[in-house]
Amino acid sequence: MARKILILNGPNLNLLGTREPGIYGVATLGDIEASCRKQGAGMDMQIDFRQSNHEGELVDWIQQAGQKRQGQQGAQSTQGAYDAIVINPAAYSHTSIAIRDALGAVDLPLIEVHISNIFQRESFRHHSHISAIASGVICGLGAFGYNLALDALNDILSPKKP
Ligand code: DQA
Repeated sequence: MARKILILNGPNLNLLGTREPGIYGVATLGDIEASCRKQGAGMDMQIDFRQSNHEGELVDWIQQAGQKRQGQQGAQSTQGAYDAIVINPAAYSHTSIAIRDALGAVDLPLIEVHISNIFQRESFRHHSHISAIASGVICGLGAFGYNLALDALNDILSPKKP
């Protein structure tokens, strides 16, 4: 069965392509989604790619990702709705305890992605509330960071040889 990956994007990432291209590059969010879908198809991953400018909507999506899948006759499966989450929380990385708590409540592998190198930028971007609970953090490698996150999840989710 295909692994289900939820890729979440926070505020202003809908503007990628025209938003500060010197920092974020020229790829649009649609370009990034297409690239993730193409990559996922080759790795038996079903990609659900979303963006919101609203903190509460992101929290709702994260909570839903942790809910159990419904099996036959409505029986709850032990498997969650998703197998892993990739998130670029954007500015909420630096401000949102609510998103961190939602992610902390969901027991799924989690990769945090930033397109820019947040450590080379303003000091208020140097701390992310999400990083401490992420399986891994990728930053500063542009849109390619999303592809690296999927590669990492492909490894994390693959059965390990003894
Ligand atoms: C970002 C970095 C954040 O500091 C910023 O608020 C963003 C995008 C990135 O992808 O580099 O919106 O998460």
